[in-house]
Amino acid sequence: MLTRSRQFSKAPGPPTLQFFLNLTQFRKDPLGGFFHAALTYGDVVRYRGMWVSHQLSHPDHIQHVLQGNFANYRKGRGYKILKLSLGEGLLTSEGALWQRQRKMTQPSFQGQQVASFVPTMAENSLTMLRRWEESARQGEVFDVVPDFMRLTLNIAAEVLFTTNLEADAESIRRTLDIGRDYSVERAWSIFPPPLSFPTKRNREYRGALANIHGIIDRIIAERRRAPGRIADLLTMLMEARDENGAPMSDKQLRDEVITLLTAGHETTTLALAWTCFLIATRPDVVERMTAEAAFLNGRSPNYDDLMKLRYSRMVVEESMRLYPPVWTLARTAVNEDEIGGYRISAGSEILIFPYITQRHPKWWQDPDVFRPERFAPENSAARPRYAYLPFGAGPRTCIGLNFAMTEILVALTLLLQRFRLKLAIDPAEVRPDPSVTLQPRPGVPVKLETI
Ligand code: HEM
Repeated sequence: MLTRSRQFSKAPGPPTLQFFLNLTQFRKDPLGGFFHAALTYGDVVRYRGMWVSHQLSHPDHIQHVLQGNFANYRKGRGYKILKLSLGEGLLTSEGALWQRQRKMTQPSFQGQQVASFVPTMAENSLTMLRRWEESARQGEVFDVVPDFMRLTLNIAAEVLFTTNLEADAESIRRTLDIGRDYSVERAWSIFPPPLSFPTKRNREYRGALANIHGIIDRIIAERRRAPGRIADLLTMLMEARDENGAPMSDKQLRDEVITLLTAGHETTTLALAWTCFLIATRPDVVERMTAEAAFLNGRSPNYDDLMKLRYSRMVVEESMRLYPPVWTLARTAVNEDEIGGYRISAGSEILIFPYITQRHPKWWQDPDVFRPERFAPENSAARPRYAYLPFGAGPRTCIGLNFAMTEILVALTLLLQRFRLKLAIDPAEVRPDPSVTLQPRPGVPVKLETI
């Protein structure tokens, strides 16, 4: 009788030698390279590099890994790099620890809690937009990305710790930048030197890490001295208890705080920035968004108001289809498995690309066209659920999904109450750069028109 592993064939993919020969080209254009592979070899593509990887594009296969056989897939190799920065926080932890932390953290991200963050989101957005009034008066051209980075970091810090981090913000931003660049470099490096080696990059990275740990430890220590007085996310995390009535340790709290700061701010920035990029050339879309928000009469929206902004929500969903801030997800198979009739060996790396599945012509008509109406309920019903996954899927779906959508809608609504954006660059010159997240390069330079 055949053993299980012999029943299934290897998935098709580029021959090993060709893969290595094309590696430089792949690094230059990973989105193009992986897309080409999906169109050439099909739903499951096998790569034999330093280790075996399988690229999946079919929604059913993605569902199998992220939901159906979830227990067999741990976070992929790339997350080990993230673990250097994020420790055992929600994004990078596994098994029982992850389950415990998810249960303890989840209540802080439920609708009612997110609703209580809306005034903070609005106030911070208005502070940014007041600065923009001056830019508009001067006719200045500026890139929205750094402004959105500041905005989302300030919001994340304020809902987490109440304290406005303005004093530490620059240093936190720099630290997160260093962490991101370091992770990208290590991800592409075949033999990355251990972190303990005193290379220039390692020293810079360790310094940045010590800096952010210092800031967060200080905030936690201050809070321990005066517990429970402030109703913010940190208090909620400190007061959370597991099944045995135990709280999180200081180290665990620190890992969760860094995780929430990191996972929450750059992704939301990019979703906002790409949405601005897309609507800046579509006055018809902007007109529909402002028409549906007219009932606000220029006031800031509250959480219930946001539920009525159905079209604006579809605009953001469509923006994240074309430009998913998290363009790739990776897992490692614990035990051997079978996907689409192919053998997935134990230890194999699984690569899922929201960017590819969300633009795949099998699931999307005119996939490169920006068309928010795709997300109207009547147009979505027939689409496979896993053809769209900007927030991941299954038990490890983004915990901040509702938080992020709320923040984006608040900022966009307030922005469109005051300004029209004019792109100050030919849209064809703006390219998605697949760093850890999908960045618009060279940015989204705009000029503002006051209304
Ligand atoms: C547009 C904005 C956002 C996008 C596109 C996004 C995307 C994602 C994706 C794709 C995952 C799944 C990763 C995987 O399965 O490997 C994820 C997980 C996560 N996200 Fe987000 N995210 C966003 C905003 C946020 C915000 C605002 C927060 C927190 C304030 C947050 C916190 C997290 C955490 C903690 C996880 C790990 C969840 C777990 O494994 O249990 N994210 N996010």
